[in-house]
Amino acid sequence: MRIGIVGGTGGMGEGFALRWCFKHDVVIGSRDTQKAKAAAENYIKIARSSYGSSMIGSISGNDNFSLAEGADVVVLSIPYESIDDTCKGLSSHISTTCIVVSPIVPLGKSDAGFDYIPMVQEKKPAAEMVAEGLGPRSRIVSAFHSISEVKLKDIKSSLDADTFVCGDDMGCVSAVNSLISEINGLRSIYLGPLAMSYQAEALTPMLLNASRKNKIKNPGIKLVY
Ligand SMILES: NC(=O)c1ccc[n+]([C@@H]2O[C@H](COP(=O)([O-])OP(=O)(O)OC[C@H]3O[C@@H](n4cnc5c(N)ncnc54)[C@H](OP(=O)(O)O)[C@@H]3O)[C@@H](O)[C@H]2O)c1
Repeated sequence: MRIGIVGGTGGMGEGFALRWCFKHDVVIGSRDTQKAKAAAENYIKIARSSYGSSMIGSISGNDNFSLAEGADVVVLSIPYESIDDTCKGLSSHISTTCIVVSPIVPLGKSDAGFDYIPMVQEKKPAAEMVAEGLGPRSRIVSAFHSISEVKLKDIKSSLDADTFVCGDDMGCVSAVNSLISEINGLRSIYLGPLAMSYQAEALTPMLLNASRKNKIKNPGIKLVY
């Protein structure tokens, strides 16, 4: 599979690349092509030192928009504030069959702590903005909001966590579930259609507040039963 990571130079992008390059061809994206290429070279060194010759995928770098050409999956690993501009640039490069993954969290901060921007500023959830900017809505899948980049990047360790997944098309959800299952210790929990994404996105400010107030490093979420 060919996976493009828009904003792949950030912490989450590095984690996705390191986890998925074991089996897939990953293209790191940036607004600056040289920065993307440098990040890709760095990530591939880390991956090779860990996986050795058992790794069959690759990591390369490109600009945020060219990477979408020929991609089966594109992950938007960018800040909430940049969704509209990024989707505008991407839309003419991405095929309508490419699955688009949004791990984006609209994260704000007030004196009380971290908050969920759509709730306090009456803005839209990230997944809704992505669906408007990069339709068809059916190919958008929302996931990975409550995963810590620190744990994702640590490829030798198990995440021991769940991630909530939302999407309208079960074929697209199933493809993302397969990528989730390739990340050691990560379990997919389906939450419902994309309209439910706000519930998954809002978990991150809650987790960050719990982390700060209780001095818990990089907490995750796991359903128990
Ligand atoms: N960090 C976490 O633990 C975590 C956990 C769960 C979900 N998330 C979500 O996952 C997404 C990525 O997280 P992250 O921590 O990796 O984000 P980040 O480091 O803040 O940003 C990722 C990349 O986005 C690009 N970028 C920054 N400003 C931009 C702009 N105005 N327009 C276009 N691109 C821009 C930058 O790449 P270039 O400068 O190379 O273009 C940057 O390296 C975010 O939406 C975040 O809410 C993060």
